[in-house]
Formats: sequence, C-alpha cells, structure tokens
Amino acid sequence: MKIIITGGAGFIGTHVVKLFVKKYPNYSIYNLDALTYAGNLENLKDIETYPNYHFIKADITDEQHINSLFQEIQPNAVIHLAAESHVDRSIMNPNQFVITNVLGTIHLLNASRKLNDFQVFYHISTDEVYGSLGETGYFTEKTPYDPRSPYSASKASSDHFVRSYYHTYHLPIKISNCSNNYGPYQFPEKLIPLCINNILNEKPLPIYGKGENVRDWLFVEDHSRAIDLIFHKGKIGETYNIGGNSEKKNIEVVQTLCKIMNKKMNKPEGYYEKLITFVKDRAGHDLRYAIDFTKLKTELNWTPSVSFEEGIEKTIDWYLNNSDWLKSVTSGNYQKYYEEQYIKR
Ligand code: NAD
Ligand code: TYD
Repeated sequence: MKIIITGGAGFIGTHVVKLFVKKYPNYSIYNLDALTYAGNLENLKDIETYPNYHFIKADITDEQHINSLFQEIQPNAVIHLAAESHVDRSIMNPNQFVITNVLGTIHLLNASRKLNDFQVFYHISTDEVYGSLGETGYFTEKTPYDPRSPYSASKASSDHFVRSYYHTYHLPIKISNCSNNYGPYQFPEKLIPLCINNILNEKPLPIYGKGENVRDWLFVEDHSRAIDLIFHKGKIGETYNIGGNSEKKNIEVVQTLCKIMNKKMNKPEGYYEKLITFVKDRAGHDLRYAIDFTKLKTELNWTPSVSFEEGIEKTIDWYLNNSDWLKSVTSGNYQKYYEEQYIKR
C-alpha cells in the first residue's frame, strides 16, 4: 500500500505520519507538504530515516506538479490534511483559503481519479462546517452545513467536492469532521499553544470577547487513532464525526493553563492569571461547537482515551521540554504576524 499523506509536516499531520510509519512498516508513506509557516520538518526528525518514509515538497495548488507526482508514485490512498487552518488568518486573507483548501483539494481529487488501483481518498475536515450551536445540542453527521467563517466555508466547500466525486465519479472517499485538537507540535497561533508560549514569556493572554465561547477539545493522539481506524475500517462514502467529550469555555481553558503553569514554574497562586487580557471579539465568532460521535463509537468502537485534564498536562510538559521548538517556530515571520494582529485588536 502506497499512501500519500498531505500536510504531514503540520500539527495533526505530524502525529498521523508518525503513527502510520511506525505501525505499518509494509506501507510506503509519502508525506506531501509545501512547508508553509505551519509545516516543520523538525517535527519528523525521529522517523526521517525509516525506509518506508518519504518526504515530497509540493504545493497542492500546483495542478501539474500534483498530477505528475501522482502518476509517478501511483498511490493507492490519500489522507488529505494539508490546509490553511487558522480562522483569524482566514478573516484577514480569505482568498488564500479558497486557493489552498478548495482548489488544492480538487487538484488532489482529479489526480486520484486518474489512478488504476486507487482504494481511498480520506479527507480530514472540521466540525466548524456545521456552524455554531446555542447552549444545548450537538453536531451529528446529519447536521446541515452552515459555515460562518471564511475558513469553515472553504472546508465546507472542499467537503462538498469530495462527496460530489463519490457520487459523480465513484471515487472511493471517506470524510471525518473533528473538534478542536490540542497537543504537542501545535503552532502557537491557536489558543492553547499561544497561551502556553505567552505564559512562558510573561506576555498578555488575549481572550476574545468574554471568553464564554465553548469548544470540544480533542487530544491529537486520540484523533490520530480515530484516523487510523476510519482509514482501515470506515465505510466508503461515509462521514464520521470525532469529538473529545471535553467541552470547555475558553476562559476555563486559559485559567486551567495558568493554574498548572503556576505550579510547574513555582509561582504563587494567581500569578499567571494576571496576564489574562480581554480583547475585542473575533468577527463572526462561533459561540459553541460540540460533537456527537455516537456513530464512530458504535460502528468502530472508538472513544477518546485521554481526559482534558490528562491531555493538557501532557501538552504543557511537551512544550516545557521543547522550548527550542517553540523558539524556532516563533522567530521571524510569525512573530511579526502575531504582533501586528495583536496590536490591531
Ligand atoms: P496546520 O496548519 O498545523 O498544518 C497544515 C499543513 O499543511 C502544514 O504542514 C502546511 O505546510 C501544509 N500546507 C498548507 N498549504 C499547503 C499547500 N498548498 N500544499 C501542501 N501543503 C500545504 O493544520 P492542522 O491543525 O494540522 O490541521 C490539519 C487538517 O485538519 C486541516 O485540514 C484542518 O482543516 C483539519 N482540522 C484541524 C483541526 C485543529 O484543531 N487543528 C480541527 C479540525 C480539523
Ligand atoms: P482557535 O485555537 O483559533 O481555534 P478555532 O477558532 O478553530 O476554534 O480558537 C479557539 C477558541 O479560542 C476560539 O473560540 C477563539 C478563542 N481565542 C481567543 O480567545 N484568543 C486567542 O488568542 C485565540 C487564538 C483564540
């Protein structure tokens, strides 16, 4: 089995590539990544010499290059994670999200259609395509799409194209929509690693609005386990929701981080909490996401194995032990982007 994993140098991709390379020595894993600001080959140092691992620097928006690579490699499967993934960036530059997330996905679908022994195109998507919930209720696989940010609109559009290729061309596809991931290797523009990084640098912890927005937090290793399961046992043409069973308000998440970090850094109670700063709300800020993953549980026997309390402890420890990684990804351009964005608020 030859599998192309797109976006394998990003946050979730890193975990998926490592899992597949180590667990399936008989598969050839091709990590196809353009290495944007979010991709980092340092993440994959420990597996780069494995004989079943190959890295290809390629941009999914380059149709010709993608076609010729697919013809050369003749993959039997694609696990598609490459994307622009940050809502705030999508508000500042929506076009890039259409180009990468929609057009890039179509190029991969077209290239896959031309192959002879092609078994599955597995598209990784988000719960944000379903829109925003009120205080109650959950997203199921049947919830109508109602995306509200340029990011979620681009992911919704790519999901629709993937499904349309199943119905129109009988391309064997699978889709999963998961909730907010957290864990090692997440780029510090997303809430949890951004706050860990700012705590370490004693910088303000920006909370949008009142911090009342709710996300369902999924530990990235549990997500990777679900991807492995769906890839091997999920039904062709089906969609699976993946959730963490860990709904938290943003303010609760940040307070938990402060509390744990006070202890780990030998600071008095309430020390890092003083960094919490309420800032202007995100435009179109979705109030609540919550996932019903009954289908995945009953059909494939998956449940999250890590509670939020365990996962957040592991995550903080990883960032504390990998301060060089944090320093290297926050140098240069990212730092500039962050300062500009923060000053704007
Ligand atoms: P990420 O931003 O950390 O990584 C994205 C990766 O894609 C990077 O390695 C980047 O270099 C690569 N990439 C971007 N544009 C590319 C292009 N044009 N060609 C080739 N490679 C390109 O993202 P992530 O958080 O790991 O998310 C992975 C996938 O999971 C995305 O499709 C995202 O929409 C989805 N998802 C993420 C979350 C989450 O909480 N992080 C939740 C739900 C769904
Ligand atoms: P984020 O990690 O960007 O993921 P998403 O927008 O895909 O859910 O944000 C998680 C939540 O945290 C979201 O409600 C926005 C909020 N947030 C802040 O309050 N401050 C921040 O600096 C960031 C990045 C996010």
